[in-house]
Amino acid sequence: MCKQFSNNWSYHNPVQVISCSLADYLSRLENQNILLVTTAGFTRRGLTADVMKMITKSTLQVYDGVRPNPDIDDLDDAAAQLHKHKFSTILAIGGGSVIDTAKAFSIALPSAMKRPITSILKEGQAADLGRRIPVVAVPTTSGTGSEVTQYATVWDSTNGRKLSLFGEHVFPVTAVLDPSLGITLPQKETLYTGLDTISHALESIWNINSNPFSELYATSALNLALDFFPAVLANPANIDVRAGMQNASLFAGYAISITKTAISHAISYPLTAKLSIPHGLACGFTLSELIRQQFSNQCLPKYNSLLSRCSDLLLSFDLNSEISQYASAAQIINLLPEMLDLSRINNYNLSANISDVSDILNLSLTR
Ligand SMILES: [Fe+2]
Repeated sequence: MCKQFSNNWSYHNPVQVISCSLADYLSRLENQNILLVTTAGFTRRGLTADVMKMITKSTLQVYDGVRPNPDIDDLDDAAAQLHKHKFSTILAIGGGSVIDTAKAFSIALPSAMKRPITSILKEGQAADLGRRIPVVAVPTTSGTGSEVTQYATVWDSTNGRKLSLFGEHVFPVTAVLDPSLGITLPQKETLYTGLDTISHALESIWNINSNPFSELYATSALNLALDFFPAVLANPANIDVRAGMQNASLFAGYAISITKTAISHAISYPLTAKLSIPHGLACGFTLSELIRQQFSNQCLPKYNSLLSRCSDLLLSFDLNSEISQYASAAQIINLLPEMLDLSRINNYNLSANISDVSDILNLSLTR
């Protein structure tokens, strides 16, 4: 039976969103002590050098050590090295891992604690979270929506666990949208990050925390993705379709900033932590089965047509053959007990116990 949505809600998002070229934005920065957070790949492609040339009226330090699924111990080690610089702005240019790393630094660098991120997330110590360095998020992928959310995901790779920073202090202050930065993103990353966008929008629609704003954002994200996701895979160098997916990701980010995620994300986390399945794929492979559940329980009749189009799109990607490149069905099903993260699963508009999640996995993996 479908759960009822609550009529008690509020909506607030403090992020300033600017659509312009990165060069235009950087030319406006004056008298800042900036930490650029990015990846070694960004530097290798000459882009860090380009950014350094564009910043003429501020000082800049570079941290380009971000890797996929940032590890909490690596972040604390890096923060200990960067702590002395007293940055006034953190400029994050990259995908979700880069933006989430910048969010973690934003809180860790002003802290007097020895290993602040570990202290906050592993040990649950109180922290002065009001002190933070403002983050400017410049997404180069279209997937996480992290540029407008109050969440940062970091990983405890020693124990195979996902950890979350969240709260008002985790929002970036500014998001800069320049779709030209996504043009060189490889096909697989374009596919997996796009799946994350669709996951966010769907997870927000079938979410008990849904409200009129999140519905507006989530349905807009899905309509954009239905148009631009196949287009971006077919024409990866087309800036207009990259911009369409960037907006889809942005709107899906707004949607989950309101509702949080739900069951497909609960299922995904151990798959990423233990089997290194990319996040968007780990979320995306159960979505068509979850849509089928929505149809059979008639939970969201007003969205039947939209959901049906999403299901057709998802099935066209043959995600089981994608996922088989990372893990076998048996390896995935073995992680079932770790998928029951109630803080996510309880957001789903249908009850799901271990046997329901087992069915979802088995049906998804045998499509
Ligand atoms: Fe996600």
